[in-house]
Amino acid sequence: MQNLQVDGDRLWQSLMEMAKIGATEKGGVCRLALTDLDKAGRDLFVSWCKEAGCSVSVDKMGNIFARRPGRNEDMPPVMTGSHLDTQPTGGKFDGVYGVLAGLEVIRSLNDHRIETEAPVEVAVWTNEEGSRFAPAMVASGVFAGAFDLEYGLSRADLDGKTMGEELARIGYAGDREVGGRPIKAFFEAHIEQGPILEAEEKTIGVVTGAQGQRWYEITLTGQEAHAGPTPMKVRKDALVGAARIVGEVNRIGLAHQPYACATVGLMQVSPNSRNTIPGKVFFAVDFRHPDADTLAQMDSELRAFCDKVTAEIGVEMAFEQIWYSPPVAFDPDCVNAVRKGAKLAGFGHMDIVSGAGHDACYINRVAPTGMIFVPCENGISHNEVENATSADIAAGCNVLLHAVLERANA
Ligand code: GLV
Ligand code: MN
Ligand code: MN
Ligand code: MN
Repeated sequence: MQNLQVDGDRLWQSLMEMAKIGATEKGGVCRLALTDLDKAGRDLFVSWCKEAGCSVSVDKMGNIFARRPGRNEDMPPVMTGSHLDTQPTGGKFDGVYGVLAGLEVIRSLNDHRIETEAPVEVAVWTNEEGSRFAPAMVASGVFAGAFDLEYGLSRADLDGKTMGEELARIGYAGDREVGGRPIKAFFEAHIEQGPILEAEEKTIGVVTGAQGQRWYEITLTGQEAHAGPTPMKVRKDALVGAARIVGEVNRIGLAHQPYACATVGLMQVSPNSRNTIPGKVFFAVDFRHPDADTLAQMDSELRAFCDKVTAEIGVEMAFEQIWYSPPVAFDPDCVNAVRKGAKLAGFGHMDIVSGAGHDACYINRVAPTGMIFVPCENGISHNEVENATSADIAAGCNVLLHAVLERANA
């Protein structure tokens, strides 16, 4: 099996074909969860899977499973996959790579007429990004029992449209129950989305775990008033409060180095008129750290500052932590299978902890799980210029092939 290889050109062509759906002028992709473009991407994936001889099923969260039978259909499947939704300024690889690498594994097994003992499934998890509907990884979370189905389907976008409504609209509200079935092992291939592998000149990241995340939504309510006649001292400017909190979020991130990350990436200012003092601001905070205690410390610092600043400025605050995803340690056997695959294929590799969230983080709760990272150019992701080399893309898929085969025949 050492010389068994995927078809790297075919994988690259498929990635470029998928990238046409939602292609942006700057070379990226905007394919937000459960939009018409997401439907088009899903339809293309399903048609490719059917051509490859897979049976396809969809569950009530819209998660798609393409299945290649095993010699022993009573065995739980070895599963691989990721997501097809993107950020608003997304790239061609985040998520899509893990989905199409899974398909390429199946196509390669077909080419070489290789039967596996266990069935092999490729999963597409709905709304991994958490950009249109918060939180991220919500549908793999329902699959893993971290959220119940009602919670998942009732997540709403900023226009109030729910995931349940949008799944029905695009024809992906499946009838299969979500989760509740055994999985032998789960692997997710992904671009690193950071600069480490490139800097260390390694082709493969053997992902040992992922950092924890806390997401918050904060609404500050002050008082709209005229920008001219209202003296500075009597204002209740919600945006001034938000600006100070943004500064504090950044300070907290810097104070907990080397690992902490702290971001405000979403803000809505109301009424957003240049000569009216902002009466209301809604914004979201994203905290990450590999250590749960430090993440809890960051949480306390944020809460204390928000209480202080809102009292000082005289604005009301609604403060909610909407999501906590604890730090994750992946399964040692799956991590080893990835490491072995990298060695077998002769790729330089290193252990790495994921800075980003992935569906694998939730699937790890219900199945032995591992991840494979490949470098991305300048470590840039969640950006239209996101890029990776076709050689690295193929390398990660070859490691995935080895890891899947190892677990499917174990
Ligand atoms: C989503 O891609 C995330 O990691 O935040
Ligand atoms: Mn991703
Ligand atoms: Mn992403
Ligand atoms: Mn992610």
